[in-house]
Amino acid sequence: MDKLIIQGGSCIKGEIRISGSKNSALPILAATLLASDPIQICNLPHLNDITTMLALIRCMGVDVIVDEKMSVEINPNTIKELEAPYELVKTMRASILVLGPLLSRFGEARVSFPGGCAIGSRPVDIHLRGLEAMGAEIEVDGGYIHAKAPNGLKGAHFYMETVTVGGTENLLMAAVLAKGKTVLENAAREPEVVDLAECLVAMGAKIEGIGTDHLVIEGVEKLNGCTFSVMPDRIETGTYLVAAAATGGSVTLRDTRADILEVVLLKLEEAGAEITSGEDWIRLDMHGRRPKAVNLTTAPYPAFPTDMQAQFTAMNAVAEGTSTVTETIFENRLVQTHELNRMGANISLKGNTAVVTGVEKLKSAPVMASDLRASASLVIAGMVAEGDTVVDRIYHIDRGYECIEEKLQLLGVNIRRVPG
Ligand code: UD1
Repeated sequence: MDKLIIQGGSCIKGEIRISGSKNSALPILAATLLASDPIQICNLPHLNDITTMLALIRCMGVDVIVDEKMSVEINPNTIKELEAPYELVKTMRASILVLGPLLSRFGEARVSFPGGCAIGSRPVDIHLRGLEAMGAEIEVDGGYIHAKAPNGLKGAHFYMETVTVGGTENLLMAAVLAKGKTVLENAAREPEVVDLAECLVAMGAKIEGIGTDHLVIEGVEKLNGCTFSVMPDRIETGTYLVAAAATGGSVTLRDTRADILEVVLLKLEEAGAEITSGEDWIRLDMHGRRPKAVNLTTAPYPAFPTDMQAQFTAMNAVAEGTSTVTETIFENRLVQTHELNRMGANISLKGNTAVVTGVEKLKSAPVMASDLRASASLVIAGMVAEGDTVVDRIYHIDRGYECIEEKLQLLGVNIRRVPG
């Protein structure tokens, strides 16, 4: 297993380009299955999860052509299998996102049941109940979800008792080809849901209320092809901003947007950062200062994102003052604090809250990544630690950060990958 070695004492300085959003690209790739013509998706990040989603689409018999700039052309008309096999689903839970499109367009789907993962139990009950409300017959057998709608899905009025990003995306994709009107209440408002909805609209879908928690979808007969460019990755953007803030550095990020990161930027300002932005860039400057501790509580968009919690916890670990970090979305997402404590942080857990007392410096130690964002927080910790930090199990990081060593090296960090 590859490891990353990070030399401590780095101060981030420079400029990099932000990649396309992983969490937007995954549902959009699933949505291509809905089109009746070939469809082109651009600005895909070069990441393992994207490769897995393309492999999944390909294993259904769908023609996929990828060019050197990571644009893909997908022709769903060549589909032969309506199945997402266990071998692929087990490596990426987001494979569940093909369920809605397959069922809606082809009337049937067999998708391996995604299990829990390191950050929590992550059920898909709301996805399934929503599809049932739209007339699907669902059986779970041999670890597979077998869904059928021989006469097509029909519009429904459905309330999601928990705000779920994937659930909203799956049901939105199911509704665009269902007969009649679907209303999704308490829908997720994350920018990635908006990006998916805009892609569906470009394909000819009729959706109202985009960006709100009340989505109204009028089913259409068929969807056409289009060319769509995936939005910038707000979590990658936020991660590099936090890295700069934690190290007292300055960074300019290109090809990204400030409007999708509002709370994160406000929290960074509270930590003492000077932030400026234009239409497609964000600049953060700490002017060499140590960050101030900031309290935060994760919640669905537009509140503070759970995917930025671990990185802020690492920054708070070396900040001036004491902070509380409360995780409300996933039950097991503060585990990286034990690794930070092994590096000399002072963090105690009380239920789903971490109390972080900032220390002047962390000390290097061999640490292990447990999930994608936790790995990013350990890399940030490595930059502000004394000595060389070895982060193990970095396959997690490769799922979500394109060219992380190259980008950090461009920003002046001494980081290298060693094969394990
Ligand atoms: C997506 C993101 C992930 C992010 C998360 C929350 C992708 C590929 N992943 O994951 O990076 O951390 O949103 O912003 O976009 N839940 C249920 N029943 C369901 C579905 C969800 O109880 O049927 C619960 C989950 O256990 C969790 C909460 O709802 O506690 C939110 O999960 P959800 O928004 O669905 O996360 P994902 O879409 O899996």
